[in-house]
Amino acid sequence: MAEEQLNKMSIHNDEDDVVDPWNVSTKSESGLDYDKLIKRFGSQKIDQELIDKFERVTGKKAHRFLRRGIFFSHRDLHSILSLHEAGKKFYLYTGRGPSSESMHIGHMIPFMFTKWLQDVFNVPLIIQLTDDEKAMWRDIKVEEARKMAHSNAKDIIAVGFDPGNTFIFNDLDFIGQCPAFYQNMVRIQKCVTFNQVKGIFGFGDSDVIGKITFPSIEAAPAFSTTFPFIFGDKVVPCLVPCAIDQDPYFRMSRDVAARLKLPKPALIHSTFLPALQGAQHKMSASDPNASIFLNDTPKQIKNKINKYAFSGGQATVEEHREKGGNTDVDISFKYLTFFLEDDDELAEIKKSYESGEMLTGELKKIAIETITPIIQEYQERRAKVTDDVMQEFFKIRKINV
Ligand code: TYM
Ligand code: TRP
Repeated sequence: MAEEQLNKMSIHNDEDDVVDPWNVSTKSESGLDYDKLIKRFGSQKIDQELIDKFERVTGKKAHRFLRRGIFFSHRDLHSILSLHEAGKKFYLYTGRGPSSESMHIGHMIPFMFTKWLQDVFNVPLIIQLTDDEKAMWRDIKVEEARKMAHSNAKDIIAVGFDPGNTFIFNDLDFIGQCPAFYQNMVRIQKCVTFNQVKGIFGFGDSDVIGKITFPSIEAAPAFSTTFPFIFGDKVVPCLVPCAIDQDPYFRMSRDVAARLKLPKPALIHSTFLPALQGAQHKMSASDPNASIFLNDTPKQIKNKINKYAFSGGQATVEEHREKGGNTDVDISFKYLTFFLEDDDELAEIKKSYESGEMLTGELKKIAIETITPIIQEYQERRAKVTDDVMQEFFKIRKINV
């Protein structure tokens, strides 16, 4: 497909919107223009027809992330649904670049959705922790990066994954134990020139050489032959759920797949959970006041939302009653679109806030009351993830495919 010719791929971030694996920002208060992003990346929009097909082949109501356009873009999702319809298996692959900071609720979006996909399709899931990536990109020692991978693994497991069909690995410990992984890395590395990675990822002459080969490490798990202990020598198609910042890796993987005569990984992309201060930035761990962390207390959650969540409300109560609030820019409202399950309740809140009937304080209160129990329940699960539980997920073993 023309869309995936490596030489034509490049990070052409435009002046308004920047989206690549390292930076996400926009000048617009209402957030990124995701339709424009679909055009720029050459992916497909998830439209109502696809959601209907999803519901038809799975027999399940679409997740709120699909109903509300939070997972908004894809590559080849139709083929994955048709495979499932024909009773054939695929597998899921996603990941996390472990960093020192605790994970925040934005990182949970792809993992929550992946958990739902795994339940709906009953397929194996592989989770890569790119501790090598963090050691190369940041001032982090190899030893420290490995430790963070293990603590982040516990955070991820607490989303609710099952060791019966989930394999988790960190690159720094696993790749050396799996010759097939390295062999696929080399096959991928042979297909991509320096000029091409420069174009796709923006690497320059003073970047360390590890960065230049790293894309082959994120690409390899998208091919089932990387994991012979799970799949034997079967070629099993792959679906990757991730936020759209990771897409460059998989545009490259898809181009390489065609040349290696392997199935192109399918993709399903999410939008970004915005920072508390406003939709110009994604939630990011580097600013503690911009994020709600998975280990925040109810009090911290309440204070952060009350103090920092950007409001689309008017300056005075009188003005608010007259003009109403703006849900396009209001962060508490945006968080409700991610976390409040009930569609009717969400529509009611939107109407009431936009008409000026509901005030900002009331909206924030609903956001706090929606998010806090989700995090508390998460923390209860997290407390049960012991080292032994974690080891089960890391064991190199056969998984029922
Ligand atoms: P990382 O650790 O930066 O992010 C982990 C996952 O979370 C997504 N994400 C977000 N989603 C919604 N709202 C946000 N504010 C937000 N911030 C981050 C990311 O897109 C990602 O899906 N190199 C990768 C690790 C990786 C990977 C993969 C990711 C390895 N293999 C395969 C996805 C699929 C990384 O550093 O992710
Ligand atoms: N950082 C601590 C650990 O890794 C605690 C922690 C991280 C945590 N994320 C959490 C505690 C989420 C509860 C919930 O153990």
